[in-house]
Amino acid sequence: MAKGHKDKVAVITGAANGIGQAFAKRLAEDGVHVAIVDVVDGKATVKMVEAAGRQALAVNCDVSSEASVTAMATEVQGKFGHVDIVVNCAGIFPQKNFPEMTFADWRKVLSVNLDGTFLVTAAFVPGMRARKWGRVVNMASSTLGSVVTGFAHYVASKGGIVGFTRALATDLAPDGVTVNAIAPGLTRSPGTLVREPRPGFKTMDDEFASVAQMQAIKRVEVPEDLVGAVSFLTSDDAAFMTGQTLNVDGGRVRS
Ligand SMILES: NC(=O)c1ccc[n+]([C@@H]2O[C@H](COP(=O)([O-])OP(=O)(O)OC[C@H]3O[C@@H](n4cnc5c(N)ncnc54)[C@H](O)[C@@H]3O)[C@@H](O)[C@H]2O)c1
Repeated sequence: MAKGHKDKVAVITGAANGIGQAFAKRLAEDGVHVAIVDVVDGKATVKMVEAAGRQALAVNCDVSSEASVTAMATEVQGKFGHVDIVVNCAGIFPQKNFPEMTFADWRKVLSVNLDGTFLVTAAFVPGMRARKWGRVVNMASSTLGSVVTGFAHYVASKGGIVGFTRALATDLAPDGVTVNAIAPGLTRSPGTLVREPRPGFKTMDDEFASVAQMQAIKRVEVPEDLVGAVSFLTSDDAAFMTGQTLNVDGGRVRS
């Protein structure tokens, strides 16, 4: 169990699947109660959290909608009373090359990935400040430091998240609230398994294998590779670390 986790309450967005689900399972094993926030059914994750002996609540919420986030926050506060940890993991990554990318495509990605991170953080930070303890973890991406095609909107959203993480860390530090980000490499998740492979690759398995060869650790990344980082960043042990982006990508990006 990570230091300081017992009976803390976390809100994890995008926790019905993939990386967010792995985060929920790990934080529950660490002793944290978890609100699973997603646009799709979160029952499977509820079962994982309860199997770890922690309380769980699944809330249907579109993080890009202020009204939906406000309603979610009311429901979560009603169940748990307060929230100590926010992990902003909900994200979308539709591929579109730049000349074909419309303003609607751009706005959609920015609204889920970047506006959603702002809205959910803003909903819970006041309570954290009042209690003088809080942890915010945002999701960046190794694509910010790599050569990728068809993801200008996505990479822009992740650049925004890194900037938000750095700047917000300064504002919240006086009240014991840290803000950090995790930058995964290409990770085998339900979201990446169903997306179109990038040009030059026939299948996603080809793309996974090719990216693995660019890493120092030459195997395909899976959500479980990321859970140690979220456990640490939300613990008492990370109290003196804020505004940082941790690359967890098998050693592909060095920054
Ligand atoms: N998988 C990767 O290769 C990879 C790499 C770098 C960063 N990331 C980031 O990690 C995060 C999780 O990715 P993943 O691979 O687990 O994706 P995923 O598609 O497997 O899961 C994402 C979850 O977010 C939910 N979601 C989507 N839009 C939402 C919305 N508007 N409101 C609430 N929930 C919403 C989905 O329903 C889904 O359950 C994302 O922020 C992604 O950008 C992933």
